[in-house]
Amino acid sequence: MSRTSTPRRYLMCRPTHFEVTYEINPWMNSQVATDTALAVRQWETLRETYLAWGHTVELIEPAPGLPDMVYAANGATVVDGLVYSARFRHPERQPEGPLYQKWFADAGFVTQTAAEVNEGEGDMLVMGDVILAGTGFRTEPAAHRELAEFTGREVVTLELVNPRFYHLDTALAVLDEDPAHPMIAYHPDAFSPASQAELARRYPDGIRVSAEDAAHLGLNAVSDGRRVVVAPQATGFAEQLRAAGFEPHPVDTSELLKGGGGAKCCTLEVRA
Ligand code: ARG
Repeated sequence: MSRTSTPRRYLMCRPTHFEVTYEINPWMNSQVATDTALAVRQWETLRETYLAWGHTVELIEPAPGLPDMVYAANGATVVDGLVYSARFRHPERQPEGPLYQKWFADAGFVTQTAAEVNEGEGDMLVMGDVILAGTGFRTEPAAHRELAEFTGREVVTLELVNPRFYHLDTALAVLDEDPAHPMIAYHPDAFSPASQAELARRYPDGIRVSAEDAAHLGLNAVSDGRRVVVAPQATGFAEQLRAAGFEPHPVDTSELLKGGGGAKCCTLEVRA
């Protein structure tokens, strides 16, 4: 199977103010020290990887007091140039929604202010014609419906059941959107039985990732259709990727894992 990369446009936020000062997911422990300089170096490597592959990376200014702003994927959902704003569940992150929305408005995008709680591309993943959408911990099913109305796309609701996989992008990665050979990877146990059945029905060949690889947030991966940025510890997943025709590229984001995020969390795809 041969896979094809396509040029991507990403929005990222440098972790200048990264630290763990509150706990809103099981990965976060405010007693554990964070090394902001290391987080910045790891993030720079991620950004340079995208640039070396010819992708466009735009930057939003990090705001003091918003340590999670580095997880740009949560900032909005962008489909066909339409921007559906994030509306965060936890008060600690709520100011991020308007900041990201303003960035897009200033850049000339049509934006819609969400009425329903949703955490952007952390829970909403475009997969070809449809949008796969997580719920259970952060994003409300009502937001899935709001997004479907706004974009005119079919939105498939998937229920997350394990608090360590609180966003869809911690449990599922979109690898190839080509309708001729679509491919996703996911950790089945992160989903309710009904959602597991839905995924198996839609993507019978989908890569099933082990608990061990998922525990390193291996599924928080970024694919450009062929090349896949993946956590270096997720070695089993890397092999599965190779067998399916992808090129895994390990990028270490261990410092950002202290906040409960990896490469995909730091990457918001701007789909014009
Ligand atoms: N500390 C952040 C939170 O709990 C991490 C967000 C990770 N982002 C993601 N797209 N999964 O909200």
